Amino acid sequence: MAWPLSCTLSLLTLILLQSTPSPVAAQNSGNISVGQSLTANINGSSWLSPSGDFAFGFHQLPITGNLFLLAIWYANFPDTIVWHANDGNPVPQGSSVKITANEGLVLTDPQGTNLWSTTSELIGGGGSVSFGFMNDTGNFALKRNSNNVTVWQSFDHPTDTLLPGQSLGIDGMINSRLSETNYTMGRFQYHLTSDGNMALNTRDLSTGYIYSAYHISDPANPGQTQRYVYNETGYMYILRKDGSMYNMLPDGYTPSQDQYQRLILSSDGILIWYSASKTSISDGWVNRLAPENICIRLAAPNLGVGICGSNNICNLGDNNRPVCACAQGYSLIDPNVQYGGCKPDFKLENCEDYAARSMKGEYSLVQLQNTDFIYNDFERVDSRSEADCKYSCLKDCFCAAASFQLSGDNSGCWKKKAPLFNGRKDSTINQNFWIKVEKVNMSNDPLNPFVTATAKGKMTTPIKVLFGGSVSVNLLLLVAIGFGLYFIYHKKLKESNKGQMKALSEYNHVHYFSYQELNEATNGFKEELGRGAFGVVYKGMVNGGGPSIYVAVKKLDRISSDTDEEFKTEVNVIGQTHHKNLVQLVGFCKEGDQRLLVYEYMSNGSLADYLFGDMRPSWIDRVQIAQGTATGLLYLHEECSTQIIHCDIKPQNILLDEYHNARISDFGLAKLLVLNQTHTNTAIRGTKGYVAPEWFRNKPVTVKVDVYSFGVLLLEIICCRKSVCMELVEEEAAILTDWAFDCYLSNKLDLLVNDDMEALKDMIRLKRFVLVALWCIQEDPSLRPTMRTVTQMLDGLAEVPNNPPCPSSFSVTTQY
Ligand SMILES: *[C@@H]1O[C@H](CO)[C@@H](O)[C@H](O)[C@H]1NC(C)=O
Ligand SMILES: *[C@@H]1O[C@H](CO)[C@@H](O)[C@H](O)[C@H]1NC(C)=O
Ligand SMILES: *[C@@H]1O[C@H](CO)[C@@H](O)[C@H](O)[C@H]1NC(C)=O
Ligand SMILES: *[C@@H]1O[C@H](CO)[C@@H](O)[C@H](O)[C@H]1NC(C)=O
Ligand SMILES: *[C@@H]1O[C@H](CO)[C@@H](O)[C@H](O)[C@H]1NC(C)=O
Ligand SMILES: *[C@@H]1O[C@H](CO)[C@@H](O)[C@H](O)[C@H]1NC(C)=O
Repeated sequence: MAWPLSCTLSLLTLILLQSTPSPVAAQNSGNISVGQSLTANINGSSWLSPSGDFAFGFHQLPITGNLFLLAIWYANFPDTIVWHANDGNPVPQGSSVKITANEGLVLTDPQGTNLWSTTSELIGGGGSVSFGFMNDTGNFALKRNSNNVTVWQSFDHPTDTLLPGQSLGIDGMINSRLSETNYTMGRFQYHLTSDGNMALNTRDLSTGYIYSAYHISDPANPGQTQRYVYNETGYMYILRKDGSMYNMLPDGYTPSQDQYQRLILSSDGILIWYSASKTSISDGWVNRLAPENICIRLAAPNLGVGICGSNNICNLGDNNRPVCACAQGYSLIDPNVQYGGCKPDFKLENCEDYAARSMKGEYSLVQLQNTDFIYNDFERVDSRSEADCKYSCLKDCFCAAASFQLSGDNSGCWKKKAPLFNGRKDSTINQNFWIKVEKVNMSNDPLNPFVTATAKGKMTTPIKVLFGGSVSVNLLLLVAIGFGLYFIYHKKLKESNKGQMKALSEYNHVHYFSYQELNEATNGFKEELGRGAFGVVYKGMVNGGGPSIYVAVKKLDRISSDTDEEFKTEVNVIGQTHHKNLVQLVGFCKEGDQRLLVYEYMSNGSLADYLFGDMRPSWIDRVQIAQGTATGLLYLHEECSTQIIHCDIKPQNILLDEYHNARISDFGLAKLLVLNQTHTNTAIRGTKGYVAPEWFRNKPVTVKVDVYSFGVLLLEIICCRKSVCMELVEEEAAILTDWAFDCYLSNKLDLLVNDDMEALKDMIRLKRFVLVALWCIQEDPSLRPTMRTVTQMLDGLAEVPNNPPCPSSFSVTTQY
């Protein structure tokens, strides 16, 4: 069996279909004569194959602005690129590609500078190309007029994809791209080695050096592969040196001409074979993948930095795709490259006086469950106790992590050096594992509620140790100055309103759409995705010359013309936010009374549907969604250029992308709250059940309102139920926040998760999450932690104090 049984054939990838015909060139014979050219443009044309199945031209890359990739794609699946030119480097709008007799395909930038050509690849030299041909197989060929000889074809220069008819000989290979949106060469390679193995390897990005294989096809016959055949009928097999064949397709599968098929080496190092019906393309792609568990497979010596790179932990996610997550205390080197490794959030200092400083508490060890970084050990200490092991690592400057097992083959204390490679997390890994982090310095957190508690003399000694420090007056001052500048900026905006063009130029970084464009993109606002407080959201597709992306178009209905300035300010603020846990704004439209916002489309719907649907989501998924939401909120509160208070955090406003990452939506719409510090002249913007008590009490509205709503949301994520549920038989359970507190007091957390074994096995974290939620929903905003503290507590980087006060329900009026 080439493909593991556990792979589900029924998995649909979320490739969505365009609802309108692609604005590509009219059908042609596939023939393109010398001298013809294409220009990279939003509505540019492309060269179609005779059947219209494949297109050659400029594909606009989503979100990156006006960048285009010279590529071949399925005309019916514009986002599915099967080949690309120029080593995956996109070109600016106005670039063009031309067929010339001497050089074949020539790609030039808008100034006419030559960027790429097929010159050196032409078989039999240049000077003789007479036409190009986009074949229905997906192969683009350059031909010599006399007897139709092919002098160059895209099939001979595969990128990350193989199509039926495209086979590999010795040294033939496909290479993954760097990320889903960056097509330059990535870290993985599927390669027919000169010693006769069809192998998956990792590559070192800077030198191109190839590491040992992490997966071999036809493993029972090492060294016997002669050719990797993907024939025109759609059969895919390994042709062995003795002439026998090893089937690479699922057993019993019979290729049909009614199906599209392709094999791709994904940017996360997995070989995926896809098929889709040509006649009912709306069913999407069916897939199969190998290897089955890449996190485990990539755990042999000499595999380079492992699948996720340094200090990064591989975890098998949905569809057997690897999910990389930085170890605690570390963050991605390049936030856009999930597989690119993580850097420590703390300085790696010199080793002078290290042991003494470390023992004084400059560093600490955080325990990670089911985790290991293998082949990083530099010392084995024959220690008999966990405590000795931790002590030994803590005091050793070179020790970045340690694992301990009391018995078995790997018994003892294994000290590991930095950077840490081959990180993986798997339920089969059962050992004590700690990673070293710098002690969290809580005095950097000016709004830390526990610091306020000190002033009131309420803080107990252990809390003091953990959260000690003082409110930084300077930081508060900075925040205040920030608000002031923001206000001045806002006033300036108000004063300028000199014509549409000038006004439009004030919207930075976001694309402007005309109403007509959005009307077409949404097919006349046909498919409704949802309705929210601000208006209706429609599904749409924006495209130019074939490249297309799915978008959610939000038609704002509560906006009257006198809020022009607010709209402008919002668009700018929202447009400047970029974070992996936020839904990205792609563009906007402002025409007459119409105000529309265009966002990236989130294929997995809202957290509300996911959480309260028929299938209970897994605990680990829920944990990641909670952490992702917290990280996104922290960004809005503290890390983006203008502070954004969301004011309406609830599961309907948390969307899930194709990897089930939590993405916050609708942020920035609760307009200018930063200026309206009290709620008196502001309508209550939140949603019942999630709204912090201060909304009702003529109290200043701060970021802490979001912390409150996050607390309610966190309880919903833990319990998979809505915050208010009147239908419950047990009346005392109707209000989630009260019930959770009762369960906490009576030590009955199992009731909260409804005997979810997965969660109960993770009791330490479950308890930590419930405690964090109970602190977040405190009626007194100053007792609620900041989102920074919340993220640290959720990650286990900061202790959570026990015994939160009762978070009294709204109905209880206090003199507060
Ligand atoms: C394509 O062009 C070649 C060379 O000019 C010609 O021989 C062939 O008949 C053309 N094919 C079609 C379908 O027009
Ligand atoms: C793209 O094409 C549409 C319809 O064909 C047209 O209305 C629109 O103005 C074009 N946009 C650009 C930027 O050329
Ligand atoms: C298109 O591909 C098919 C299958 O490989 C081949 O038979 C045919 O000759 C190709 N057409 C041209 C014009 O090269
Ligand atoms: C793709 O990644 C490479 C390497 O990090 C970078 O140089 C290049 O600018 C990226 N391209 C795009 C379009 O982001
Ligand atoms: C592809 O391979 C299958 C299985 O060996 C064979 O039956 C079929 O004839 C081949 N098709 C072509 C076009 O060679
Ligand atoms: C914590 O941070 C503050 C401000 O950056 C600094 O003055 C203080 O020395 C730090 N404390 C420790 C223990 O590093």
